[in-house]
Amino acid sequence: MRSQAVRDMVLAEGALAHLFERYGIDYSSHGEETLEAVCAKKDLDLNTILSEIEAMKLTRPYSFLHGDLWDEEFLIEYIVENHHRYCRAAIPVLLEQLAMVNQSQGDPRMTDHARFPYMKPVMFLFQRAAHEIEQHMRKEEMILFPYFKSLASAHEFSRRRPLAPFITIDGPISRMEQEHDETGQIFAKIRALLNDFTIPNGASAMHGAVIKGLEAFVNDLHQHVHLENNMLFPRIRILEEAFDARTGMPLPT
Ligand SMILES: [Fe+2]
Ligand SMILES: [Fe+2]
Repeated sequence: MRSQAVRDMVLAEGALAHLFERYGIDYSSHGEETLEAVCAKKDLDLNTILSEIEAMKLTRPYSFLHGDLWDEEFLIEYIVENHHRYCRAAIPVLLEQLAMVNQSQGDPRMTDHARFPYMKPVMFLFQRAAHEIEQHMRKEEMILFPYFKSLASAHEFSRRRPLAPFITIDGPISRMEQEHDETGQIFAKIRALLNDFTIPNGASAMHGAVIKGLEAFVNDLHQHVHLENNMLFPRIRILEEAFDARTGMPLPT
């Protein structure tokens, strides 16, 4: 288990995502690293984590999701209807809460802003991330995902590979992976500023709500990116290889 890539561990056992989140282990954008390597890099005790994984396996609840059985079309629908929809619902709420927390400046009854000045950079970072996420999801929904669906359908029904505005799918997929990484870096800064999403003593209820809201958002984003980077994109890359580059027809299996 120690020499397994952390993304493969989460693919095999989804509940591990919660444990990895707790330790700040990135299984979504840099999931190719082994558990051993991640622990060494982050100065985490490997044996403690291995024991926790063993204990968790005995107590974890049954998972009702069976992602390994989903076809590409359903996987895309799940990503859009569950994760993109959640992003679009949560972003305006978090932006408003962050604005309210930071508005307390000048009001002697609401001292959050003065006592927790790092909330201002958190707000600016989240505003940037939110803008990037919205643009990124639009590109996926308008261009990439429809192409993926038509590629999967062409393969299933032995039709010619659909025309695309790119030579291979690797270019746009790599761009999406890079954007995931860039957004991940913004949230790593937010996490550091918020001391691993810890609610400080004396924080207002709104302050606590926004910190927990940001933690939920980033955890959901990691799962969202994990499904794209580690499940959907590898499957689409394999699917593209299943077509004859010259004729565009599916290769015999
Ligand atoms: Fe997405
Ligand atoms: Fe994405």
